[in-house]
Formats: sequence, structure tokens, C-alpha cells
Amino acid sequence: MRTQVGIVGAGPAGLLLSHLLALRGIDSLVVEDRSRAYCEARQRAGLLEDGTVKLLREADLAQRLDAEGLEHGGIYLQFAGERHHLDFRDLTGGRTVTIYAQTEIVKDLITRRLADGGALEFEISGTAVAGLDTDRPVLSYTTAGGERREVVCDAIAGCDGFHGICRPSIPPGLLTVRDRDYPYAWLGITADVPPSTDELIYNRHPDGFALHTMRTPQVSRLYLQVPPDDRIEAWPDERIWAALQRRFALPGWELKEGPIFDKAITPMRSFVSSPMRYGRLFLAGDAAHIVPPTGAKGLNLAMADVSVLADALEALLRGDGRPADRYSDTCLRRVWRATHFSWWMTTMLHVTPAADPMTEELQLSQLRYVTSSRAAATSLAENYTGYPPLR
Ligand code: FAD
Ligand code: DHB
Repeated sequence: MRTQVGIVGAGPAGLLLSHLLALRGIDSLVVEDRSRAYCEARQRAGLLEDGTVKLLREADLAQRLDAEGLEHGGIYLQFAGERHHLDFRDLTGGRTVTIYAQTEIVKDLITRRLADGGALEFEISGTAVAGLDTDRPVLSYTTAGGERREVVCDAIAGCDGFHGICRPSIPPGLLTVRDRDYPYAWLGITADVPPSTDELIYNRHPDGFALHTMRTPQVSRLYLQVPPDDRIEAWPDERIWAALQRRFALPGWELKEGPIFDKAITPMRSFVSSPMRYGRLFLAGDAAHIVPPTGAKGLNLAMADVSVLADALEALLRGDGRPADRYSDTCLRRVWRATHFSWWMTTMLHVTPAADPMTEELQLSQLRYVTSSRAAATSLAENYTGYPPLR
């Protein structure tokens, strides 16, 4: 079998890449080891940068996003019993962010690829890539029906997330990895209750960090800092709401409760593997880098990578390899900026177990600074709302 670009993984990166390639007249095959229903239901990110929304609009993918997305012009930062508002529109000359769940982006992309006749294979197994240092790399897998296939490609895109097979297929010794684990995790819930806030609340409390975000005007999403080895079974719904009530408490403000329909614990890490290319294999999104979620950057980075990659592959298939040669460096500049911002937000807002009192005072001082200095607030707002294209 033959395709121009073999794409491993039907997450936001792989699906968007296949659509962007189709717009350029390039055919691709996306293979995914989970079911379509699983990919569409996996609760993850929810916040889109200004540039990500523009990218989706330019790619004619924003009909539902424009109708249902919730545009936010700022965030609240809560600490030491006070809640402060940062006005991004004012600080950045009009930039905003948009709440639109990753589940909805994935649904929109799958619907569109299928409507356009795109090739997507779900529930495959035994994914392997070979011939990466040749002009005809091969993607092989076993279909849901049990048939083994070998697909000859011009290039392969590894969009298979942090635990995928593409990054480990690069010969040992060629990748440089920088990583950091954090001594905490996030417990995330989705609940059938209207949000108790108009914009997101990032909250540093002595018990630990908490975040109030949302999915729709009827559905709230909330996160709690928990120990990294904590188990979801230890958190019945009443305990979750009690912890959220304590951390968000503010005189005159009420956190509304409702039935929880999704809850999970996610570890936190920073991880950057470079370069993002080996021969004709190009890594994109979580396959190459992970950030802790506090800056809401993971999904946005994945989409930014593939917008650069689509142009690079178009040129490569025309015989011009220069953009492909620049692909990794171009993406890594944005990745490292987001890695720093995510680390900074994370360490400012979380409670480090057994930290000395000095650490807490430094965090509080930083929070007072970003909520009182226009220069400091502008820096946060500029990073949070996103970066211009780095092409
Ligand atoms: P993924 O979405 O991971 O997609 C990779 C796809 O590849 C998956 O569908 C996977 O099933 C498939 N795959 C893997 N191995 C194979 C194989 N061998 N063969 C075929 N297919 C394969 N970001 C935020 O900004 N805010 C958040 O709150 C947030 N929460 C998160 C919670 C969790 C549990 C996780 C894991 C991530 C979270 N993120 C969050 C990060 C964000 O969701 C990711 O950055 C984003 O999903 C990256 O998209 P991707 O397409 O690169 O990878
Ligand atoms: C969401 C997640 C984040 O990590 C974040 O910083 C903002 C929003 C969310 O799930 O909506």
C-alpha cells in the first residue's frame, strides 16, 4: 500500500495534520490504536490560545468553535484570601483565549476528515515504523480485522503522544532529553453544574493549588493539586467538593456543586526531546514534548507543531527540504518558551510538600508582583494568550 504521509495517532496533532495536508492536496493515512469513541471522549485540555483559534478558522474548522466556544478576556489569580483579575484584552491590546474542549476539537476533526474522504483507521495494533533514514519509510500495523499492512510513505509523522512508539524508534543516542518531574499531580473533575465564575480562577491555597475552569455554560471543570501517588478511589465525590470548597472559599462568593461525571488523576512533568526529526520521521505534539498543564499549553503546542509541519512536508514533497530541515528548531523555540512559562506558573501556584517557609514567601511575593505591576501582568498575559507564528 502507498500514501504520501503516514500519521501515527488520531489525537489533535495527527488529525489536524491530516486535514492541513489534505488542504494542500497531499494524501495521508492516520492510524490509531484506540477506538473512535475513546478518542472523542478522552477528557483533557480545554483552553485555546488566540493563535490556535485563528489557525482553526483559517483551516475552515471553526464553525462549531465559533458558535459554542467561550471567549475569555482574562483570568483570576487567588492567593492569601484575595482574588485578583488580570485583564488580557487591556494588557495585550485585545488578545483573548477561548474555552472549547479537546473532545470537541477531536470530534470536529474526525467528522471533517471522514466527510472529505480521509483515511482513518481506528483500533489498529502492532504499529511499527521502519526505513526512517530512507526516502521511502514504511508504516506497518494490524487492522481491527486482523490484517497486517505495510504502507510505503514519503514521510511519517509521529503524533502518537508521550507513550507512543515513534520517539523510541529513533536510534539510541541521537536524542537529547530534558525532563523534570513535579512532586504533585492534578485530580480533574467534570460536573453537571453551571460554572460559578465568568473566567478561570487559578488558586494558590495552603492546602494546594486549585483551578476552576469550564466546558460549557452548563458544565464545570475543576482541578485539585493532590500527591503524585494518590489514587482516585481515595477521592469520593464528597471529599472532592469539600476540598474545593475550602480552597476556593471567598466571602460573598459561592462554589456551586453538581453531579460529577468524570474524574481522573494526571501526573505532571516537563519533558523536551530534541531534535523533533530523524530522517523522514517527524515528531509532533506530546510525542516530542510535555508541559505541566498549569499554563494550558500542551494542546496549543501540538497544533502549532503541525501547522509548521504541514508547510515543511509540502515543500519536502516538492523537492525542497529546507523547511523540513528547519522544522525542529522552529518548533523548539516555541516549545521552550511554553516549557518555561508552564514551569513558572506551576511553581508559583503549587504547594511543594515539606517546602521551607522561604519558598512560600517567594511564591506569594511573585503572585503579589504579577497582580500589582502592569509590566509583570503583561508578561503573564502575553505568554498565556500565546505566541505569534515562529516561521
Ligand atoms: P495525544 O492527544 O496524546 O494523541 C496521541 C494519539 O496517539 C492518541 O490518540 C493515542 O491513543 C495514539 N497512539 C499512541 N500510541 C499509538 C500507537 N502505537 N499506534 C497508534 N496510535 C497510537 N493540556 C492542557 O493544555 N490542559 C489540560 O488540562 C490537559 N490535561 C491533560 C490530561 C491528560 C490525562 C493528558 C495525557 C494530557 C493533558 N493535557 C492537557 C495535554 C494535552 O491534552 C496534550 O498536549 C494533547 O492531547 C497533545 O495532543 P497530541 O495529538 O500530541 O497527543
Ligand atoms: C484547562 C486546563 C488547564 O490546564 C488550564 O491551565 C486551563 C484550562 C481546562 O481543562 O479547561
